[in-house]
Amino acid sequence: MTSDPAPSQRTIALVGLMGVGKSTIGRRLAQALELPFRDADQEIELAAGRTIPDIFAQLGEAEFRAGERRVIGRLLLQEPRHVLATGGGAFMDPQTRLLMKDKAITVWLKADLDVLVRRVGRKNTRPLLAGKDPRVVLQELMDKRYPVYAEADITIMTDDRPASAAVEAITAALASGLQAAAAR
Ligand code: S3P
Repeated sequence: MTSDPAPSQRTIALVGLMGVGKSTIGRRLAQALELPFRDADQEIELAAGRTIPDIFAQLGEAEFRAGERRVIGRLLLQEPRHVLATGGGAFMDPQTRLLMKDKAITVWLKADLDVLVRRVGRKNTRPLLAGKDPRVVLQELMDKRYPVYAEADITIMTDDRPASAAVEAITAALASGLQAAAAR
């Protein structure tokens, strides 16, 4: 029988909307914690042998989500534990979310709409934003996804602060969460 890892032994999975900085903050967090870093979107591209825009265009979003589920499932079982940046829709998939809650410590990175719009930029290769007004799409995604992202173990408001500030906030939240767990 396999049991789920103790909190201190779990992979740290970052969730949140496009543009919030999951990869940048994730990479820095991994350095700070001396853990490997994995990027789910990159691993999906590697496994599929094509880019995310190509997967969406050639196979459709449902195929992308199925691939995302498989890849994240594999990464969450991978040792050693690591920092895992996931694509913005991953935590919305019920199966992927269940797995992430079981196997990882989940951290929701949050930012205001203005910050996200600025960060995703005008020229965008993200399929969900292609040819659309990012402000409108991101607002719709906030309405739909925020109640689900709120199920993450830890929430960090990143706003306009540098990645280092988010990393400090995450490491502090992780340490106090572990202390609280040890005291129980
Ligand atoms: C998506 C976010 C993207 C990528 C894909 C779908 C989403 O990842 O997985 O384009 O559904 O929000 P990032 O959040 O890293 O941009």
